[in-house]
Amino acid sequence: MDRQTELGIIRATYARQILAAASVVDARLEAALGAVRREEFLGPGPWPILRWFRKYVLTPDADPAFLYTHDLVGILPERQINNGQPSLHARLIHHAAPAVGEHVVHIGTGTGYYTAILAHLVGSSGRVTGIEYDRELAARAKANFASHPNVDIVEGDGTSVPFHEADAIYVNAGCTRPAENWLDRLADNGRLILPLTSDQGFGASSLDHLALAGAVFLIERRGSDYSAKWISSVAIFPCAGNRDEVSERALAEAFAKGGWERVTRLYRDQDIPEERSWVRGPGWCLAYS
Ligand SMILES: C[S@@+](CC[C@H](N)C(=O)[O-])C[C@H]1O[C@@H](n2cnc3c(N)ncnc32)[C@H](O)[C@@H]1O
Repeated sequence: MDRQTELGIIRATYARQILAAASVVDARLEAALGAVRREEFLGPGPWPILRWFRKYVLTPDADPAFLYTHDLVGILPERQINNGQPSLHARLIHHAAPAVGEHVVHIGTGTGYYTAILAHLVGSSGRVTGIEYDRELAARAKANFASHPNVDIVEGDGTSVPFHEADAIYVNAGCTRPAENWLDRLADNGRLILPLTSDQGFGASSLDHLALAGAVFLIERRGSDYSAKWISSVAIFPCAGNRDEVSERALAEAFAKGGWERVTRLYRDQDIPEERSWVRGPGWCLAYS
């Protein structure tokens, strides 16, 4: 058996394991995880794998088999920027539900591994706009997608870069609030994956701490209404340009009191009665009804 065939089998096994770890059944996503080669997005090996206590350990050599695990891989390890955990992304992408022919905007594209998964899901009739704030990572992503006509990489701040109306917006950095840009540009019936984190969020070292520090919500737009549903806990690199102190404090209090699983609505104002509100900041509120 040649090496590429072998790696294809390894990827197929990885895809099954990752979906199981994410508690997700999704044949299209499983096929995408089985098809996209992670090694093509992470630069030359050996690769730095994130282990406990924020330490990186290099893979023994540059065999791509080491990348088909549940692990985070450093893409700018000196700044703790990682290619995220496959099972977390599987869960979030499943909820973003990218369909064939859709336009997906990926905020915090990094070097593009999950952008490529999204591109696989929307197919050649769809497209993905990947926005990356860091200049070096954006350049690496541009090079990685040079021959992909359905992926456009933009260097910039995804909270303010204008983009065409999106069927799904997949945010991969921790915010303290939803950006107006995302809510405005989300298509009717569109899905926004929104990680909200308090200042404790990045680098949480235990699961208890994680649950108190970050939460990912699925926001779905119906006209001017936005439903909201908690889909995961998270610890994730902070989003540049989308953190304000008032929301940050409000989030820390909300995480401390609990109740995020009962959230059902996102409002673009803060005048929701206290008893219905889980968290509110300037001009926004996540509420129970
Ligand atoms: C946790 S890393 C994930 C990278 C990538 N999704 C992956 O898993 O390989 C978060 C990324 O978001 C980027 N980022 C942070 N704030 C951003 C913003 N306002 N606009 C675009 N990208 C941003 C960071 O530079 C970083 O590359």
